[in-house]
Amino acid sequence: MYIVNSYATECSEAILQNDGFIDKYMGDGIMAVFGLSDNQPGRICRNAVRAGLNIQDTAARLTKRLGDDFQLDFQIGVGIHYGPCVVGLVGHPSHRSFSLLGDTVNAAARIEAMTKNFEANLLISSAVFDQAPNAFVVEPSQDVPLRGKDELIKLYPVTGLAEDNTLLLVQQSLADILPHRREVGLHFYQLLFERYPDYRPLFPDDLDAQSVTLMNMIEATVVNAARPGDSLSGLRELGRRHAHYGVVKNESFDHVGECIIQALADLLGPRLTPELKEAWEVVYGTVANAVSDGMELAKP
Ligand code: HEM
Repeated sequence: MYIVNSYATECSEAILQNDGFIDKYMGDGIMAVFGLSDNQPGRICRNAVRAGLNIQDTAARLTKRLGDDFQLDFQIGVGIHYGPCVVGLVGHPSHRSFSLLGDTVNAAARIEAMTKNFEANLLISSAVFDQAPNAFVVEPSQDVPLRGKDELIKLYPVTGLAEDNTLLLVQQSLADILPHRREVGLHFYQLLFERYPDYRPLFPDDLDAQSVTLMNMIEATVVNAARPGDSLSGLRELGRRHAHYGVVKNESFDHVGECIIQALADLLGPRLTPELKEAWEVVYGTVANAVSDGMELAKP
């Protein structure tokens, strides 16, 4: 059960971080739906594919972590289809459960089964591809019959994102960072006070709790980035509060950014590649701009 739960937890994280909803666990399979609260097909399909790519990363990580001890090589097949489906509560009144029904759902399950025939870990239908044709790195498509269907369906193996990889990279690194959120947060404050001792008196409160809050805030920003709506309003609110903490902007946001990135570098070592470092700098820049905007809004 330990292995199944490690696998289910990590794959589920990839789904939830990309605005997906977990419909059900079926043995070692997971059925998920994207776009329940979104009406932009391009974003919905990008989110689903990003989750699929993250799941591939999870498989590689699990193989590295558990493969030697348990002689396991995790290969996870992911099939993604786009289309209408019926969503609702199904079953006896005392045992109702949320369910997805319809042709799209059945086809998605069959596409997943096709990953073995394709020797591809992530397959999308042309219905997904067409919603964001420039977004994905794909291998040549094949038209194949799906079990129980007369017409052929075009499937593309996907190996990456062709556009902005920032969110994918940052999400993948969260699995290495979040289990150490308290240590990273505390190390960040230690670096900040060593390098810029003038800030120390501004922080009278318990740094232990604050470290975790800071990391939770960063995690929430990454997760919200995949969701529709104004993902930065919480950070602007945080900025309003900062106006009352005696924070003066000047270069303080650069100093905080420098120490956060250094704390990540000290934790991740060579896993913080130049590409990943740049991705985290982009995320920090977005967070810092929103917090700083909130401080401006709080000015009388
Ligand atoms: C991206 C930028 C930043 C983020 C995400 C961030 C995050 C946070 C969070 C989560 C808290 C906990 C309290 C709350 O939720 O209101 C906090 C408090 C605080 N932050 Fe920031 N912060 C940022 C930038 C800065 C900067 C540039 C400074 C200036 C040195 C600063 C100084 C403070 C101070 C003084 C407190 C209150 C400490 C206390 O009450 O002990 N923050 N920050």
